Amino acid sequence: MIVCICNALNECKIRQAIAEGARNPAAIYKAHGCKPQCGKCGPDMKTMISDHFRRSSAPPTGPAPKNAPRA
Ligand code: FES
Repeated sequence: MIVCICNALNECKIRQAIAEGARNPAAIYKAHGCKPQCGKCGPDMKTMISDHFRRSSAPPTGPAPKNAPRA
């Protein structure tokens, strides 16, 4: 499904950018070489970012906790 009509970004492209490190809509646009136009997709992108980290149980931003176990 297309999330950003202005830039033809579908869910797959947005999830790919998030998986590669995008943490906000601006980073998602940048990852695909485009810029926001109308901005209506921003809230949906933020929801997708939150959902990604809710599923993975990782924080969306910030450094790792100091007492995090080493791999
Ligand atoms: S729908 Fe994404 S910028 Fe317009």
